[in-house]
Amino acid sequence: MDTANKKSKKTDAAAVAKNLRDFFVDGLKDIYYAEKALVKTLPVMFDNATDQKLKTAIKDHLAQTSEQVVRLEKVFESLGMKAEGKKCHAIEGIIKEGNEIMSETESGPVRDAGIIASGQKVEHYEIATYGTLAAFAKTLNERTALDLLLKTLGEEKKSDCLLTTIADTNLNSQAVDGKLQSKDLNAV
Ligand SMILES: [Fe+2]
Repeated sequence: MDTANKKSKKTDAAAVAKNLRDFFVDGLKDIYYAEKALVKTLPVMFDNATDQKLKTAIKDHLAQTSEQVVRLEKVFESLGMKAEGKKCHAIEGIIKEGNEIMSETESGPVRDAGIIASGQKVEHYEIATYGTLAAFAKTLNERTALDLLLKTLGEEKKSDCLLTTIADTNLNSQAVDGKLQSKDLNAV
């Protein structure tokens, strides 16, 4: 018997997903919790960031995340359910790591690079989750839910690309020694 099977024996039988729809709903609760946690976390990241492009990206993403919460409520509605969150341990861990990075760095390019790294971990988690949920919605023939989930998936992918661009443009090079400016690199 593998570890997963051993653990499942200890799980409350009522909480076990019996079919794909159960997994789908469970995943929706998980990401609903995660998005709401991010609505609280993004302002902290905004306050800690110094790069203007990064601050703007975080501010825009906060507005987008609030819309994504409402969009998830519409997904639940389309299934005839009331929106409900379930503690997402993954996002809690990613947020905790991000908070550690912010507390262990000084304000400036190095902390900004750390904020981007944390932000991209969040995005990749969300891309994986929304991708899976969209696939489940397609299999379950939940067309309204599928359209809503694909819209958010597209936004998360764009946010991830934007963070990569901000990091590549000059932030990571500035963070190499904590103060090097990209214009200095051009002079080399
Ligand atoms: Fe999101």
